[in-house]
Amino acid sequence: MYCIKKVTDDLIWVGANDRRLALFEGVYSVPAGVSYNSYLLTDEKTVLFDTVDKAVRQRFLENVEKALNGRKLDYLVVQHVEPDHSAVIPELIRQYPGIKIVCGARVLEFIKQFYDFDIDAHVHLVEENDTLNTGKHTLHFVMAPMVHWPEVMMTYDSTAKILFSADAFGCFGALNGALFADEVDFAKDYMDEARRYYSNIVGKYGVQVESVLDKASALDIEMICPLHGFVWRTNLSEIVSKYMLWSRYEPEERGVMIAYASVYGNTENAAEILACRLRDKGIKTVIFDVSVTPASEIVSAAFKWSHLVFASTTYNAGIFVTMEALINDLAAHNIQNRRVAIIENGSWAPTSGGLIREILGKCEKINILENNVSILSGLKKAQVSDIEAMAQAIGADFPAPAGAAAQNNQTVPNTVDPNTMFKLSYGLFVLTARDGNKDNGCIINTVMQITVTPIKITIGVNKANYTHDMILKTGKFNVSVLSEKAPFHVFQQFGFHSGKDTDKFAGSGEALRTENGVRYLSEWTNGVISGEVKEAIDCGTHTLFIAEVKQAFSLSRDASVTYQYYFDNIKPKPQPPKGNKKGFVCKICGYVHEGDTLPDDFICPLCKHGAADFEKLQ
Ligand code: FEO
Repeated sequence: MYCIKKVTDDLIWVGANDRRLALFEGVYSVPAGVSYNSYLLTDEKTVLFDTVDKAVRQRFLENVEKALNGRKLDYLVVQHVEPDHSAVIPELIRQYPGIKIVCGARVLEFIKQFYDFDIDAHVHLVEENDTLNTGKHTLHFVMAPMVHWPEVMMTYDSTAKILFSADAFGCFGALNGALFADEVDFAKDYMDEARRYYSNIVGKYGVQVESVLDKASALDIEMICPLHGFVWRTNLSEIVSKYMLWSRYEPEERGVMIAYASVYGNTENAAEILACRLRDKGIKTVIFDVSVTPASEIVSAAFKWSHLVFASTTYNAGIFVTMEALINDLAAHNIQNRRVAIIENGSWAPTSGGLIREILGKCEKINILENNVSILSGLKKAQVSDIEAMAQAIGADFPAPAGAAAQNNQTVPNTVDPNTMFKLSYGLFVLTARDGNKDNGCIINTVMQITVTPIKITIGVNKANYTHDMILKTGKFNVSVLSEKAPFHVFQQFGFHSGKDTDKFAGSGEALRTENGVRYLSEWTNGVISGEVKEAIDCGTHTLFIAEVKQAFSLSRDASVTYQYYFDNIKPKPQPPKGNKKGFVCKICGYVHEGDTLPDDFICPLCKHGAADFEKLQ
């Protein structure tokens, strides 16, 4: 008996669920099953998007027949040839011999590899940006190589504003009667499975996913129809924002994932003690026994958490088998951009730590703590300090809030802790101005839109900046919004010295200017806003300019850099001066003021922050 669901007035879900599959792709456990989605568009022409796995072929064929309601099937769009979506193509051809198969050249090649039928008699080849009109609807074809195979194509229905996204935005788990993500508590019940699906299926191909996200950003999308999991018709950003993080290998949560492999419980003991010490510092922790938890879940967790600890016993002079499989799996899935710590164990020749370091050390932006903890058989009292030192080193990445006492129901300090200001979410911008023939710029972090009609923004500028004086005089400026790709030297170029003495644009190449004649940055920025000052409010050390936006344009889809991102990923960590000198280091830019004391009115000569932003060198 058919089981179909209405997606829109002329789009019908004709897929099916499989709860008996032991291992998806022969590797990944799917205890909650999986759905194979296929969609039938009933326009003047009928169009089927992909088929299903052979396990659910009967239900699928019944569904297609019902949804067609006696009509013939005109087109089958094949977006992905992996057999969980293509297995029923040969049978479909037999049932609907007049069908045209709409696909790219790579799909054609793969279909010929997998199946033996005369596809040439049916094929309608398409390329990037080709369109197919089916009556009311126009389908646009978007190539998405390596998301998840090289032949993958997505389809955008510009009439209904639907993206048929192939494997992208998919999820493990059967649909259980629902079809839309908004019918379930996706964040609570399915996001972990969406992450496990992403990280294990396409995690390796972050660059390619980013490229498709870029293409998709140019489309007006109101609905996403993936090949597995739920259809997205509301709050699309919930899943798209996750894909933006995952594709860039950015952690979702700051905290520590500890994975251990322990034969007799001693390595586990060390992992548990470490977790306790981290929790004592208020740091979130999760622990997995790699011999018990399926690797796909741990790979998924590694994509979620910012810090990873691997604790493994030595086995056959190598890494314990389950841990070795996990470490290789993580490297194969291109894990990057993580802080890692390693605990090794061994009764006569511990080697697992060095071997783990060797494998993960080849991954991009994996920062491994220098000091492993090395255990001989079992952790002894004298070595607990090594675990505590590891917790301390990890904890250094998680600055404790001054008001942490509040979390323990203690009295909160009745003071102003300037560090609390860092909790505010700021972007970072290059503010530029022009006075006569002089161009100048500086870094600011306070740009805010305040009205829509007309669009007005405020900028806060330190009076010590030459750019400030130029804006006060000319009333014109540009804000170039820095992206996460901005390297540290951009901040040095515009932030760490005065334009009164130097030409900050020296060597910057072609002078790009907006209509107001002011220069802007086209590289490492994602957008430019030109402002005309309407009001200037004296705020003491700073002037708050209120300006009307006269010109604004986007330059890229790269994410805007935030203050936090800058500190975590761009700004080099301050290095103490050589020779045990005494002094104070600027937490903002790393400038070191040598000496026993720091005057209260001290201003950092580099970034212009005050004494409150300095800390004593230890
Ligand atoms: Fe669901 Fe890549 O196939």
